[in-house]
Amino acid sequence: MSLAVQIRQHGGPEELQIVDVTVGEPGPGEIRIHHHAVGLNFIDVYHRTGLYPLQMPAAIGMEGAGIVEAVGEGVTHLKAGDRAAYASNPPGSYAEVRLMPAKTVCKLPDAIGFETGAAMMLKGLTAQYLLKKTLPAEGLQPGDHVLFHAAAGGVGLIACQWAKALGLQLIGTAGSDEKCRLALANGAAHAINYRTEDFAARVKDITGGKGVKVVYDSVGKDTWEKSLECLRPFGLMATFGNASGPVAPFAPGALGAKGSLYVTRQTLFTHIATREATQAMADDLFAVVQSGAVKIHIEQRYALRDVEQAHRDLEARKTTGCTVLTLS
Ligand SMILES: NC(=O)c1ccc[n+]([C@@H]2O[C@H](COP(=O)([O-])OP(=O)(O)OC[C@H]3O[C@@H](n4cnc5c(N)ncnc54)[C@H](OP(=O)(O)O)[C@@H]3O)[C@@H](O)[C@H]2O)c1
Repeated sequence: MSLAVQIRQHGGPEELQIVDVTVGEPGPGEIRIHHHAVGLNFIDVYHRTGLYPLQMPAAIGMEGAGIVEAVGEGVTHLKAGDRAAYASNPPGSYAEVRLMPAKTVCKLPDAIGFETGAAMMLKGLTAQYLLKKTLPAEGLQPGDHVLFHAAAGGVGLIACQWAKALGLQLIGTAGSDEKCRLALANGAAHAINYRTEDFAARVKDITGGKGVKVVYDSVGKDTWEKSLECLRPFGLMATFGNASGPVAPFAPGALGAKGSLYVTRQTLFTHIATREATQAMADDLFAVVQSGAVKIHIEQRYALRDVEQAHRDLEARKTTGCTVLTLS
């Protein structure tokens, strides 16, 4: 038996119910993992609200770390007793124990604690594929400006640090002056409070009128139009989230008029489609964390039974950095 969080219908945080579930033996290609910590992500909100619909009843949670209890047939890269972490489908990490497809589960290096592992996999692998693989046609070189929205959030604080390590000038946006200071303290070259300032005008100032080569936008509806104004000709609009709501349909002609812009909508799950790709990206993340170049800031901890409050705080923009659910 295991405690787990489920929803019976899409809706508000009050739909998150703690239930007892039976966890069986892992089938072919699966492992059973006993979590020591679970990561909270904005995608969990989309799953709960139904922006990304799930079959009911639905388990929630996409990120966790713990000890492998048992492995199913055909699993060769993990064994019982291994420390492990993952960020992947299917939802269900808000639980003490669960079954999980082994493909995207990685051994967690001894030097990385369970809470850090649980906090960093989804957000860190996302920062990895954005900054290393989601690039404008002419690539990114040290010294280039990039614009990164929600820079004081979970993905954002990792991206600030990683961009600095790559020599990029990251311009971060955030929803308060305090959050802007946090982004700057974590390596952002500039920070803009987009609740009080016109971020497109500031980006033009900072870049001497040229604009940036790429915008990484997870805010969606509220930032889309102005983000396009921030790009230089042939720049890349990389949209990867909808914290403020989904981007409205748009006419491609606008991209021509604004300078032959490129648009891509990226998702982590395409990048971690294979065991080899997942491990390569995780190795890159583990290395940058173990080197100290990227620190995983766990700014909020909630007991699993307080998951409703955790969701309320995340949606209300009260959190910064990473959030974990703890299991006693
Ligand atoms: N496509 C992918 O592969 C992928 C993977 C991971 C994450 N994501 C996306 O990346 C984003 C960041 O994820 P995260 O888990 O690290 O969350 P987060 O950044 O810690 O939290 C979301 C942040 O978005 C900002 N925001 C702006 N407008 C908002 C609004 N109307 N309501 C709520 N928040 C708003 C808030 O920061 P401010 O107050 O500073 O504005 C808030 O703290 C999310 O949109 C998520 O869906 C996408």
